[in-house]
Amino acid sequence: MHLDGGKRRGFFLTLEGPEGSGKSTQAQRLAARLVAAGYPCAVTREPGGTRLGEEIRQILLHGTSPIPAADALLFNAARAQLAAEVIEPALDRGEIVICDRFTDSTLAYQGYGAGQALDSLRELARFAAGGLTPDMTVLIDLPVEEGLSRKFGGPDITRFESHEDVAFHRRVRAGFLALAAAEPDRFLVVDGRQPPDSVEAEIAEALLSRIAQRDKVPRDNAGRSVHESGTASSEPERAPLRMNK
Ligand code: TMP
Repeated sequence: MHLDGGKRRGFFLTLEGPEGSGKSTQAQRLAARLVAAGYPCAVTREPGGTRLGEEIRQILLHGTSPIPAADALLFNAARAQLAAEVIEPALDRGEIVICDRFTDSTLAYQGYGAGQALDSLRELARFAAGGLTPDMTVLIDLPVEEGLSRKFGGPDITRFESHEDVAFHRRVRAGFLALAAAEPDRFLVVDGRQPPDSVEAEIAEALLSRIAQRDKVPRDNAGRSVHESGTASSEPERAPLRMNK
C-alpha cells in the first residue's frame, strides 16, 4: 500500500497449510474484512487463478498422476502464469493479494513429502515466479488426522487427499513447520484447531500490523524499500474485491 512518486506497490500474503486446514475459508474471510476496511484486495489460488492455471489444476488434482519431476514442473507452470497474469499486476495497482498456497506448498508437498531436492524446487519456483516472494505467509497448522478427516467425504476430493499415506501428509506438515521455523519474520503460524473466528482474528491483527509497519518504510518506484526519506502513505483506497478462480 505505497504511494511513492505516483507508483504503488501492494502487499503479497500467502496462506499455507496441510489438507483441511481451512485456508480457503480464511482467504475469503480476510478479503471481506480488508475490503470493508477500505483496502483494495485480490484473492487467488494455486494451482489455478488463471484460465491456463485452472486447466493445469484439473490435470494435477484429477487427471493422470505425473512422474515427480513433471508434477513439480506443472505446479510451477501454473505459478508462472498466475504470477505474471494476476499477482504482479495486482501488486502494481497497490492491492493486497491473498493467495491460497504458493511456493511453500511445492517445497512441503513435492520436497518434504515426495522427496524431491529442495534446492532444485527452490530454483524452479524462483524461475517460475520471476523472483516474486510473499511479504507475509500464514501457516494454518493442524494435526494431519484432523485435517484429513475434515476433507474426507467432501465434494472435491483430489488425488492428494485420497492419498491413504498418512506418513506422506505427516512429512508435508513437518515440512511446513520447518519452513516456518527457518523464516520466522515472514511466517505467522496459527493453530488451525481454533474456531474459524479466532483464526481469522489472529491473522487479521498480524496482517494489518505488518502492512502498517511496511508502509512506514520508504519505497523506490518498484516498491522496494529505500533508505532515503520518501512519501509513503498508509491511506487505504477503496477498490472492488477481485476473485481469480
Ligand atoms: P487445495 O486447493 O485443496 O489446497 O488443493 C491443492 C492440492 O495441491 C493440495 O493437495 C496441495 C497440492 N499442491 C502441491 O502438491 N504442490 C503445490 O505447489 C501446490 C500449490 C499445491
